[in-house]
Amino acid sequence: PPFWVVIPAAGIGSRMRADRPKQYLQLAGRSILEHTLDCFLDHPQLKGLVLCLAADDPFWPALPGASDPRIQRVDGGGERADSVLNGLLHLRELGAQEGDWVLVHDAARPNLARTDLDLLLAELANDPVGGLLAVPARDTLKRAGADGRVQETVDRSVIWQAYTPQMFHFAALHRALADALVAGVAVTDEASALEWAGLSPRLIEGRADNLKITRPEDLEWLRQRWVLKT
Ligand code: C5P
Repeated sequence: PPFWVVIPAAGIGSRMRADRPKQYLQLAGRSILEHTLDCFLDHPQLKGLVLCLAADDPFWPALPGASDPRIQRVDGGGERADSVLNGLLHLRELGAQEGDWVLVHDAARPNLARTDLDLLLAELANDPVGGLLAVPARDTLKRAGADGRVQETVDRSVIWQAYTPQMFHFAALHRALADALVAGVAVTDEASALEWAGLSPRLIEGRADNLKITRPEDLEWLRQRWVLKT
């Protein structure tokens, strides 16, 4: 189905301990963010893409990708959900309708395979709610106590890691995010806002290497992979 994309990239990424937000670190000669945008830009069913950036972001204008007319820049907000809401408001100006599909994807996930993107779109095209790419937990999981000791082993067979893109209808996503923000609910991904609204997003099993670059070793791993790929 045709789809819109929102990329929230207005965070500071403090866990990377770098001199700039992680999406501006280099991977194979380009920024992580440009690789991420490339996952979508030439897709035949893309209707438009909005990139949410901090208002004073000095890094984006310096990149070659910044002049690409297919990318609409908007200001981010205080929380991820605020950033995505701003993106949705702009999509409406671009002509997005209530029932249109919107995909939200992390700026720091540059290794999304086209096959996974197409799998998500195909699996959810006729779904009443929508859903997300996700990966079943593979390690044994422990619940920790404050003393740093294991309290119990958690049943991993029902635990999945939530990846992106996350795919929902424009109106449902907009309403869920706005309501969750007003209620002060912690929303770390879009699906949790819809869950809070009483809906059940579908889990679509994707590739584990669509990882979000969070720690320095994630980037090292991806750099080595990229060398092998190209
Ligand atoms: O911190 P974390 O990696 O979970 O952030 C996920 C995404 O949300 C990042 O791409 C980050 O830039 C974005 N974000 C945002 N606006 C905020 C906070 C985070 O767009 N206020």
